[in-house]
Amino acid sequence: MVKLEQFGDRIKGLDFSEIDKRNLEICSTIDNKTGLGNDFLGWLDYSSKLPEKEVDRIIDCAKRIRKNYKALAVIGIGGSYLGARAAIDAIKGLFPEDDFKIIFVGNTLSSTYTSQVVRFLKGRKFAINIISKSGTTTEPSVAFRLLKDLLISQGEDPKDAIIATTDRARGALKTESDHEGYEEFVIPDDIGGRYSVITPVGLLPIACAGIDIKAFLNGVRQGEKDYSVKDYNKNPAYFYGASRYLLHKDGYPMEYFVTYEPQFASIAEWLKQLFAESEGKDGKGLMPGSVTFTTDLHSVGQFIQQGSKILFETIIKTDEPIEDISFKTEKDDLDGMNYLAGKKLSFINDKAYEGTLKAHVEQGKVPANVIHIGKMTAENLGNLFYFFMRACAYSAYLLGVNPFNQPGVEIYKHNMFVLLNKPGVK
Ligand code: PA5
Repeated sequence: MVKLEQFGDRIKGLDFSEIDKRNLEICSTIDNKTGLGNDFLGWLDYSSKLPEKEVDRIIDCAKRIRKNYKALAVIGIGGSYLGARAAIDAIKGLFPEDDFKIIFVGNTLSSTYTSQVVRFLKGRKFAINIISKSGTTTEPSVAFRLLKDLLISQGEDPKDAIIATTDRARGALKTESDHEGYEEFVIPDDIGGRYSVITPVGLLPIACAGIDIKAFLNGVRQGEKDYSVKDYNKNPAYFYGASRYLLHKDGYPMEYFVTYEPQFASIAEWLKQLFAESEGKDGKGLMPGSVTFTTDLHSVGQFIQQGSKILFETIIKTDEPIEDISFKTEKDDLDGMNYLAGKKLSFINDKAYEGTLKAHVEQGKVPANVIHIGKMTAENLGNLFYFFMRACAYSAYLLGVNPFNQPGVEIYKHNMFVLLNKPGVK
């Protein structure tokens, strides 16, 4: 279970009387699936219901891909890639010692990015995991065509090299996959994209990165127990969900996700999607942002410290680094760094965290949640993802919005299709 700490007078002085009145109703809305978007709550107990055989099939597929190919192109956008990327970056790091490469593509229409991916994959033996629940999203569909052509032109058999993760029955990808005989994994009907990292959407790429998905799922299953407790004082997901709702009402329109580990920046990207698409509708919702410290203390840190008082921070804190490093004493100490010689870099980073927290909370009057995750293991990460999914459902229901749709996303698509003369769109 994560540990939640809070800092600052405003956050500590929040009035929970509204939560006391509404907590049981919100818990029951989630547990009994009676609220808005209630047909998208399959993630609540998905990991407990997922058959062992299906997990083994994912692991076998990942082993086959790693054995037979040198790279995997994961094609997907939004919830169809952010969770996998977050997990792989967080656990493997940004410079993984692995000859097998994982590339994310189909999350942009940038011609430069996409051309560069095509160039990178040219001449390499690569496989494709195309992930799309609807099976019709433009960005992944464009990338899929391009990479499929390349793969076939390089002599690969698409039946072996392409794995489709999509809806059980609907969509163009399902039709093509059935027709071409790709190996398939199902995105359940009752789980939306941004809650799908715990399904094959996340599990297959994560397993392809060599991460233990059984441990990851253990963490998710533990999360099902940890974060379903009705007493919000004993449930950090609900306590955090309630606090962010109350902070918003108290005059803070923005939540900034903070990490002190660059390899966690993709977790913040996943979080921004989770909260923005779940809550940002009907003229409501907290605007999520993110920073990586200490990097961004030399940019946005100035604003956070002394700019408009519009945000609170939610810090994802690992208390034990995956790796550590220190440097030696130098005889002449010309750079004046001997005072830190022999100290672990994680110790110095922790002092930066402590000093920044004090500066932001005490001098800057910025309220802060700190979510302690322990060490970044597959198990703890699975637990963390589930923590945030529960917290998001809870605070979105407090806000009175449907956490599981994203009607606003359709508007840009419609305009783009009109401009592209897509058949049947006016
Ligand atoms: O959270 C969501 O549902 C969205 O972000 C989708 O994941 C995203 O739009 C991609 O959709 P699809 O998987 O249908 O291609």
